[in-house]
Amino acid sequence: MSNQNTPFQIKDSTVLVTGATRGLGASFVSALIQRGASRIYAGARSTQSIQLMIDKLGPKVVAVELDVTDQDQVNKVASEAGDISLLINNAGVLGSKGLIEAGDIDTLAYEMDVNVYGLARMSLAFAPILASNGGGAILNILSVASLHAFAPMGSYSATKAAAMSLTQSMAYELRDQGTQVFGTYAGYIDTGMINHITGDKASPEAIADASLEGLETGTSDIDADERATAVRALLNEGGPGVREAYWSRADEFKENQG
Ligand SMILES: NC(=O)c1ccc[n+]([C@@H]2O[C@H](COP(=O)([O-])OP(=O)(O)OC[C@H]3O[C@@H](n4cnc5c(N)ncnc54)[C@H](OP(=O)(O)O)[C@@H]3O)[C@@H](O)[C@H]2O)c1
Repeated sequence: MSNQNTPFQIKDSTVLVTGATRGLGASFVSALIQRGASRIYAGARSTQSIQLMIDKLGPKVVAVELDVTDQDQVNKVASEAGDISLLINNAGVLGSKGLIEAGDIDTLAYEMDVNVYGLARMSLAFAPILASNGGGAILNILSVASLHAFAPMGSYSATKAAAMSLTQSMAYELRDQGTQVFGTYAGYIDTGMINHITGDKASPEAIADASLEGLETGTSDIDADERATAVRALLNEGGPGVREAYWSRADEFKENQG
């Protein structure tokens, strides 16, 4: 299967980033400005929380109130941001539990609502807008957990695998309208999401930059850090070593994080 999309040019584009308040989303907004985007709608559950970002980056950044679990807000943003050619589905949550450890489906349901249904609500609302603006692109922020489940984050892994699956199927479904669909894969990123976890972490700036580079070079599956590259290589090797590697990493995680 080809890993090649039509390159997407950031310069002069209009973009919507979900979950732009902090972490990777905030880094995307800065990186888009650096690469010459002309307007960035910064989605935030509380728009007040991005006022500082707007003060720093200027009027190209436009705050939009957006909780991706709220269909009415998604519809409202679609009516306000009808000029975008790039949607970045970045908003995400991590409950940090395995299903059995959690003991019920509440954590899984919470993660699904943001990481999968949120991405789906946004993609459904914006697919016709992207079509009418010439095709454009969708970038979904996935994870190495999309590629193989990591048991201590079992429910999160399930949501990221589902998000990868939608990324793959939407690439086909949106092909005829000229919309390119991309996915970013990364290991630990140094954001609030994993403050409680120790280990090597990539900077959110580096992941945002690698993702935008992937868009501009037309790389559909963007392995944005060393961990993503290593995991994909391990999976390509196949064999019993894959499960062994994941289980021993899970054991190590449990010992270290307590
Ligand atoms: N950190 C990692 O190690 C890592 C690794 C691979 C992939 N990722 C993915 O990268 C993406 C960004 O995560 P991050 O690391 O930047 O996490 P983060 O620092 O916790 O930021 C998460 C962002 O998502 C927003 N958000 C949460 N629920 C939302 C909702 N219902 N509607 C709209 N926005 C919502 C948050 O907004 P509020 O400020 O309002 O809470 C925040 O802006 C996620 O998709 C995550 O799964 C992260």
